[in-house]
Amino acid sequence: MTILVTGGAGFIGANFIIDWLQTRDEGVVNLDKLTYAGNLRNLASVEGHESYTFIRGDIGDSVLVPDLLVEHKPRAVINFAAESHVDRSIHCADDFIGTNVVGVYRLLDNVLRYWSELPEAEQAGFRFLHVSTDEVYGALEPGAPAFTEDNSYKPNNPYSASKAASDHLVRAFHHTYGLPALTSNCSNNYGPFQFPEKLVPLFIHNALAQKPLPLYGDGRQVRDWLYVRDHCAALRQVLETGEVGEVYNIGGNNEKTNLEIATMLCEILDEIRPGNGGESYKSLVSFVKDRPGHDRRYAMDSSKIRRELGWKASETVESGIRKTVLWYLENQDWVAATVGGGYRDWIRKQYR
Ligand code: NAD
Ligand code: DAU
Repeated sequence: MTILVTGGAGFIGANFIIDWLQTRDEGVVNLDKLTYAGNLRNLASVEGHESYTFIRGDIGDSVLVPDLLVEHKPRAVINFAAESHVDRSIHCADDFIGTNVVGVYRLLDNVLRYWSELPEAEQAGFRFLHVSTDEVYGALEPGAPAFTEDNSYKPNNPYSASKAASDHLVRAFHHTYGLPALTSNCSNNYGPFQFPEKLVPLFIHNALAQKPLPLYGDGRQVRDWLYVRDHCAALRQVLETGEVGEVYNIGGNNEKTNLEIATMLCEILDEIRPGNGGESYKSLVSFVKDRPGHDRRYAMDSSKIRRELGWKASETVESGIRKTVLWYLENQDWVAATVGGGYRDWIRKQYR
């Protein structure tokens, strides 16, 4: 038995594959285009594993995808592949539409053809799990109840609009053609192998280099933080016992402002790697121009997945952030190999 993971060389996909191979006796085929965010170093620990196969390619490639489906005969597809960074989507959304909308449509179309030709028993057991985001629901007012699966879609930036489009396509392929699809919408992840363009790894990286920690606007925007391995555990649960056609919200129940996250990161670094010339790393925090259209607050109500599938997060934000800081400190060679020319160009463009 095999599953097909798309986008498995990225942050969450790589954590998912590593965990999968540690906890399951089932093969994984990883289809990844290796964009700037895809990094085979994330998967160095499973390279050569007898149950792991890597294929470089695009989810929107309608020659490659049908061929690999027929060759590897996966019993499930888990779609992580996406352009994922909001700030990049604000600079230019072309790749977001190309992968998150057109790519997902082509992937669905090719998976549908493959699924339609499976024997009946295999059709019944097949799953297409689409990994999506809380951002599709838009922004919450302070004090408003957390997003449930019944909230309407109100995406506010090009990234979240492109993910919302993909969620609608998944829903339509299930409703119209009966493709056994499920969707998960998750809050902000952090943990090992996250590309240092996102808040947590960017701030750890900058702090260690004694560079400013650029907080957008007043730094009071709220996110619901989830340790990546908790997300991976939730996805395995959805794949195994989730109901076809359903949507599951996944969150950490850990609402924090960006300023609180920055402070937490600095305090952990002050404790385990003091070094900012004798000053706290907090002195590096610097308030910069806000992100256009910046969503003020996200929060996920995960009661459905807890009640129906028995999943809940195991890390608190304090324990997970500490583990993450330690991982980055112990993996500075990974960071050094990740922050090359393309990364520096992005940082210059975004924070000039
Ligand atoms: P990431 O940017 O780290 O990785 C994306 C991966 O997809 C990369 O390996 C990239 O090479 C690959 N990819 C991009 N376009 C592709 C294409 N056309 N064909 C094949 N591969 C392609 O992203 P991530 O943070 O790991 O997020 C994974 C998924 O989870 C995304 O769908 C994202 O929307 C969703 N998500 C992320 C978070 C988060 O906090 N990071 C939270 C909720 C949901
Ligand atoms: O909510 C889920 C989403 O979380 C995922 O769908 C996205 O793929 C993922 O990138 C993430 O989106 P965010 O925009 O919330 O993540 P990011 O790390 O870019 O930003 C987190 C918060 O920190 C956000 O309010 C913006 C702020 N921020 C971010 C950066 C990079 C700063 O203040 N300064 C920064 O330099």
